[in-house]
Amino acid sequence: MQEKINPVKALRGDIEVSADKSISHRSAIFAALAQGESRIKNYLLAEDTLSTCHCIEQLGVKIVQDKNNFIINSPGIEGLIEPAAVLDCGNSGTTMRLMSGLLAGRPFYSVLSGDESLSNRPMRRIVEPLSSMGAHIWGRENNSKPPLAIQGSKLQGGMFNMSVASAQVKSALLLAGLQADNSTVIIEPHRSRDHSERMLQAMGADLSIEDNKITLSPGKPLSVCDWTIPGDISSAAFFLVAATIVPNSELRIRQVGINPTRTGIIQVLMKMGANIKIENSTIIAGEPVADLIIKSAPLKAITVNKEMIPEMIDEIPVLAVAMAVAKGESIVQGANELRVKETDRIKAISTELRKMGVDITELEDGFVVKGNPEGLKSAQVFSYGDHRIAMSLAIAALVADKTTEILSSEAVNISFPEFWCIMERIIA
Ligand code: S3P
Repeated sequence: MQEKINPVKALRGDIEVSADKSISHRSAIFAALAQGESRIKNYLLAEDTLSTCHCIEQLGVKIVQDKNNFIINSPGIEGLIEPAAVLDCGNSGTTMRLMSGLLAGRPFYSVLSGDESLSNRPMRRIVEPLSSMGAHIWGRENNSKPPLAIQGSKLQGGMFNMSVASAQVKSALLLAGLQADNSTVIIEPHRSRDHSERMLQAMGADLSIEDNKITLSPGKPLSVCDWTIPGDISSAAFFLVAATIVPNSELRIRQVGINPTRTGIIQVLMKMGANIKIENSTIIAGEPVADLIIKSAPLKAITVNKEMIPEMIDEIPVLAVAMAVAKGESIVQGANELRVKETDRIKAISTELRKMGVDITELEDGFVVKGNPEGLKSAQVFSYGDHRIAMSLAIAALVADKTTEILSSEAVNISFPEFWCIMERIIA
């Protein structure tokens, strides 16, 4: 599919974005751990999170769906059954990595596969630590790529000093650690999103956090869950940037998750000069949630360093768009992880924004952008089948001189199927 986007004069509206992808995945997988009925309200109905549902259903978990509200009935972790077919994780790295942690300790055989993009994403980062806990995992290219074949077994905990801050790897280790004979200690180089820790603590797990160190002691029974999923700040980010860079705009985005391990994009945009207000703050199911009100504002350049990356890893492509219209030279560095996302996002966003007239130079671990507040040039651009590249380019198109065409625009269905409808609504 392709989408044509015209430049706009203003954006206005009062919107909600789709439910948080990270929390949705976890709510389904964690519900599978606890015996009985868990209730999830506002589950994200997108391709990635539905892949997770299909995987847990194949393990014997029953899901009753009423629109985006789910009742998940699990036989409990000990009652999960060997899947009769390959577990298809689609495009979702979170599904594959978290499911691997769960399956590593189950006494049966399973195979996890994915689409072309996922089949090329690095898995050694979970295969090595899970194997050291006692699991048997095989993958292509010397156990580094999917499909993964897992023969689960008895696991031992241990101490894991992670070299990359990755919430997926951390969560895989926690899921394995819950099934181990002794404690698991994880030390992160920088704090990555902490939804797993919050949710497992709420379910009764013996988990403590001290700075970057997480200690999990297995054995405590986990209680069923009752979660309401907040709006996804990673989806809201597209509209934070859009309403900032399109003149005469004002948007309210309701009920967005503002967990401090995820709000890097708000902080960085505000340092660049963005006008973002936070209202109606509250806590829903253990996660801070608020309305975000954004008015357009001129932006100035900024440098984003390695320590700031984990809190905004998924928002860097759309940040590049903000940098493209900011005054001065912006730099993103220490973001090597972007090269191993759904696509090489450093290459993808640099190549496509260059087609739109942006002066952007790739670095090994980021990029340098010389901003032009006058706006961008229209072009035909490509999403590379990556949802966040498609949506970032759509935001760039709003400040181009003429119509921009985005190829492979259906990629938004991975995390934010309502994206194009909301765009239309706020332009009208
Ligand atoms: C996620 C963690 C991040 C992020 C991804 C979702 C999660 O990946 O990029 O979109 O839900 O745990 P890494 O763990 O690889 O950093």
